[in-house]
Amino acid sequence: MEAFASRIVVIGAGHMGRAIIAGLHEKALGIPLDIVENSNDRMRLVGEEFGIEPRPRYEPGQDDVVILAIQPQAFAEFSAAQPAGAFAKSLVISVMAGVSIATMENALNTSRIVRTIPNTPSEISQGMTVLCPGTAVTDGEIFLAEQIMSVIGRTVTVPRRCAARS
Ligand SMILES: NC(=O)c1ccc[n+]([C@@H]2O[C@H](COP(=O)([O-])OP(=O)(O)OC[C@H]3O[C@@H](n4cnc5c(N)ncnc54)[C@H](OP(=O)(O)O)[C@@H]3O)[C@@H](O)[C@H]2O)c1
Repeated sequence: MEAFASRIVVIGAGHMGRAIIAGLHEKALGIPLDIVENSNDRMRLVGEEFGIEPRPRYEPGQDDVVILAIQPQAFAEFSAAQPAGAFAKSLVISVMAGVSIATMENALNTSRIVRTIPNTPSEISQGMTVLCPGTAVTDGEIFLAEQIMSVIGRTVTVPRRCAARS
């Protein structure tokens, strides 16, 4: 079954987040886009570049796709600051290096997580992203995550059973 997204929320508009925002902006998947960013300078830059006013914090919505593009070392503080159940109705796509699916499941209290590893050329939309879906992610959600990450290059998805080691 196809997965529905009411909006995409990119959290962290640094190098990788900005590349994904640029790709989504250019490829126009027809899904509304929101941006959450810490840094005032980056808020201003992406605001000017894409005409989207970034917000300082994530406000959960129904059927969000949340792209976590913050630094790995910022994840613990980010997850601790979220209200209970913030991700209950979302699909989470992480690009964070070194943060396992198990760690994210525990911290975010959801199993609908796709861990991805984009390579550096993704910053100029010429990348290759490996997707690793958690065990609770549906085929439709995997397809949606592939569509989203393909805005920065090509994708390859590993079987769900690999998630146990991811
Ligand atoms: N760059 C790459 O080629 C690449 C490749 C593969 C994976 N990745 C992964 O992508 C992620 C981002 O990397 P990057 O190179 O784009 O880092 P970056 O340029 O430092 O961007 C991260 C951004 O997230 C913001 N941020 C941190 N905590 C936040 C929060 N709680 N809410 C909102 N915004 C927050 C940061 O603001 P502050 O600076 O104010 O903290 C910063 O603007 C990392 O996890 C990295 O492992 C990057």
